[in-house]
Amino acid sequence: MGRNVNSRDQLAEHLKFLTELGIDGLSRDRGWRTSGRESGRESRTVPQASELPASDPASLAVAPAIPSPSSLANDVDLPSIRADLGDCTRCKLHTLGRRQIVFGVGNPHADLMFVGEAPGRDEDAQGIPFVGRAGQLLTKMIEAIGLTRDEVYIANVIKCRPPENRNPEPDEVAACEPFLFRQVEMIHPKVIVALGAFAAQTLLKTQDSISRLRGRIYTYSSAQVIPTFHPAYLLRSPDRKRDAWEDLKKAKSLLDG
Ligand code: URA
Repeated sequence: MGRNVNSRDQLAEHLKFLTELGIDGLSRDRGWRTSGRESGRESRTVPQASELPASDPASLAVAPAIPSPSSLANDVDLPSIRADLGDCTRCKLHTLGRRQIVFGVGNPHADLMFVGEAPGRDEDAQGIPFVGRAGQLLTKMIEAIGLTRDEVYIANVIKCRPPENRNPEPDEVAACEPFLFRQVEMIHPKVIVALGAFAAQTLLKTQDSISRLRGRIYTYSSAQVIPTFHPAYLLRSPDRKRDAWEDLKKAKSLLDG
């Protein structure tokens, strides 16, 4: 009984999120996830490549490839990268109250990778990225494109919690980003969704704002990169969820294509 109530609550919550994203069609049919339009009425479901605004050149423009670091070839697997990180003291964050390193979680062979900024309080406590409020929204975003957290890989640019959740500083990024780059090389995803300015700027080596960056497809190494708004920002600015949904649809269509 308790479990039924719980799963009913979860379903209600999931439906609410889909509604917030502007998805108004639902079906028990598995094919629903890939169906396009219903009887002339636009039905917002999980995307098809054809739903991409092909007439909008900005949305399909592919920015020049960013060369990936060349010294990454010797890693054997993700645990060997984690072992190299060790009980890291490469930057000052290890003296500023971090409880543990938050390396990354998910499928080491994922086609889709999400990259965030840095762990917050909940992530620092649990050692797992994106488990707090923003993480719960990210989980719903992943599920909205028909995937689960176990099927994707989730990591951050910075592996230790900055004090008071302040922005990571340049020396901290410089010390930590090689580990993200090595994770990307090892996982070899087809698509990376960069969550927020920090992740996008680190992968794309730019200072452009996320509003400027989103809406285009970039490349990092052999992956296509979709910058989108950070879930924490979406919690504060729910009117941008629709933009995030467009970005997720684009990521999904790249995966399927
Ligand atoms: N925000 C992030 O960028 N990463 C997390 O893991 C949690 C919140």
